[in-house]
Amino acid sequence: MMARQASHTVVLVLCLSSLAEASWASPIQGLIDNCFACHRHPQQASGLAVIEGRDPQQMSQLLMDYKYGRQAATLMPRLLKALSDSEIQAIALALSQPAQSQ
Ligand code: HEC
Repeated sequence: MMARQASHTVVLVLCLSSLAEASWASPIQGLIDNCFACHRHPQQASGLAVIEGRDPQQMSQLLMDYKYGRQAATLMPRLLKALSDSEIQAIALALSQPAQSQ
């Protein structure tokens, strides 16, 4: 259990540092690139749930539910608390269009 928690912390730190670098060029694309440290693209065999090509309204609702503790989860609420509501909505919209999320 300890090792599992430690590796999650490492992933979070790596994600946050790449987020800081990328966000200067294109804030929303930088944030989206970060998602794929954990989530898989549709063509990939391993990784967490595919988050591209979903309904933007449902995606945005789920992410907001994670952020405000209405949906039980481990990592997503922590990550999303670092983002504004409007950033979350922009991410949900961009991810609904697969061409922009690669
Ligand atoms: C550090 C790893 C990590 C990163 C980075 C990450 N996620 Fe997640 N994501 C998870 C985990 C783990 C879950 C399962 C729910 C939980 O326990 O938090 C999840 C679940 C989800 C789900 C629900 C999937 C489903 O169908 O049940 C969505 C949608 C999602 N993430 C979107 C995103 C978006 C958008 C980003 C980028 C802003 C992102 N995630 C970044 C780890 C991550």
